[in-house]
Amino acid sequence: MNDKGIIFDLDGVIVDTAKYHYLAWKKIADALGFEFTKAHNELLKGVSRTRSLEILLDIGKITLSDNEKQKKLISKNKDYLGYIEKMGADEILPGVLTVLDFLDENNIHYVLGSASKNAELILKQINLHHRFFGIVDGNAVSKAKPDPEVFLIGAHKLHLPPENCIVFEDAIAGVEAAKIANMTAIGIGDKETLSEADFVFNDFTEISEAFLYELLDSTKY
Ligand code: G6P
Ligand code: MG
Repeated sequence: MNDKGIIFDLDGVIVDTAKYHYLAWKKIADALGFEFTKAHNELLKGVSRTRSLEILLDIGKITLSDNEKQKKLISKNKDYLGYIEKMGADEILPGVLTVLDFLDENNIHYVLGSASKNAELILKQINLHHRFFGIVDGNAVSKAKPDPEVFLIGAHKLHLPPENCIVFEDAIAGVEAAKIANMTAIGIGDKETLSEADFVFNDFTEISEAFLYELLDSTKY
């Protein structure tokens, strides 16, 4: 089973940072004078920071100059980092550490495949950075999910062909990217939302050792 490797998304898979993104984007929307709801926030999951601002401005039907957009992006990230700097290992989502321990015990390498430019900082905050075999983050990619670039670079870091890689994702765009890359996609979240995934679990506590053994032993599903 050592011919398999894992690629983890970060936000919504290892930690729930969506709540912090929400608060930071809401502050921007409040300042611009329109309502930004939690349902709106769903549209930003897995989406790059720049694209998130475009979506936010569409929601508020607001047009800004490039210069103003840059200022909003800087201000949003500053606010977001205020939350991230307070994060600790207690924010790792339930069941994640059990799965990582299992992978370590079985010598299965895992890398990160995230759209976030803050991914390294977040991994350090939650004390997981040193455990990853490699990191592919928003600074390393030029094309956003559902483009498979982030996961293909991940496969390269794992020294494995894409079909031997298994991706954990919470976003529709991420599951799509994994499938386009010809990888096995495991959705973390709602079954109906992530219907394109090969398997879906509500969270990592639902993933049994038996499932992991089967997943890592078999060739592509
Ligand atoms: C992840 C999150 C998105 C976020 C993106 C960029 O994919 O799911 O909501 O917009 O990363 O994050 P960043 O930390 O670079 O602003
Ligand atoms: Mg995610």
